[in-house]
Amino acid sequence: MSVGDESPQATANERSQNLKRVLFVCLGNICRSPAAEGVMLHLLKQMELQRGFEIDSAGTSSYHIGEPADRRMRKAARQRGIELTSRARMVTDKDFQRFDLIVAMDRSNYDQLVRIGGQVDHLRLLSDFLDDVWPTDVPDPYFGGDDGFEMVLDMLQAA
Ligand code: 4NP
Repeated sequence: MSVGDESPQATANERSQNLKRVLFVCLGNICRSPAAEGVMLHLLKQMELQRGFEIDSAGTSSYHIGEPADRRMRKAARQRGIELTSRARMVTDKDFQRFDLIVAMDRSNYDQLVRIGGQVDHLRLLSDFLDDVWPTDVPDPYFGGDDGFEMVLDMLQAA
């Protein structure tokens, strides 16, 4: 979901002037990155800072294109007052021009993004924004129990 300026392309000049487009990336784009998108939008709305920001998420795989966020992830987020409304899409090379900051949920996602867009300064790991008590990777909750979804939200809300 995007908020604010909906222009289709950001020029390099626009990017250098305004750090305001953020893309979160995981494997399937149905659990971790939609939750990251939702947490960020929720925070921006709370701080009345959403105008002019564009927050989006994408996956490195095509497994779930067009699907809403995983039901378990939506339920866990809703219990914290956060609605997840995204539809899964796959990351593209154009995302590297459009977004000021691309945040990978784990090192595997990060490595795949480097293969697509190169080793660029605006590509980071989510855990770069956390202190060392947290794991380097946001654990993939898809094949696990409810605790995994809570852990994802704990990490995202701490970042
Ligand atoms: P996500 O979780 O990368 O956080 O969206 C996953 C969702 C689906 C699959 C793997 C991870 N899958 O293998 O279908």
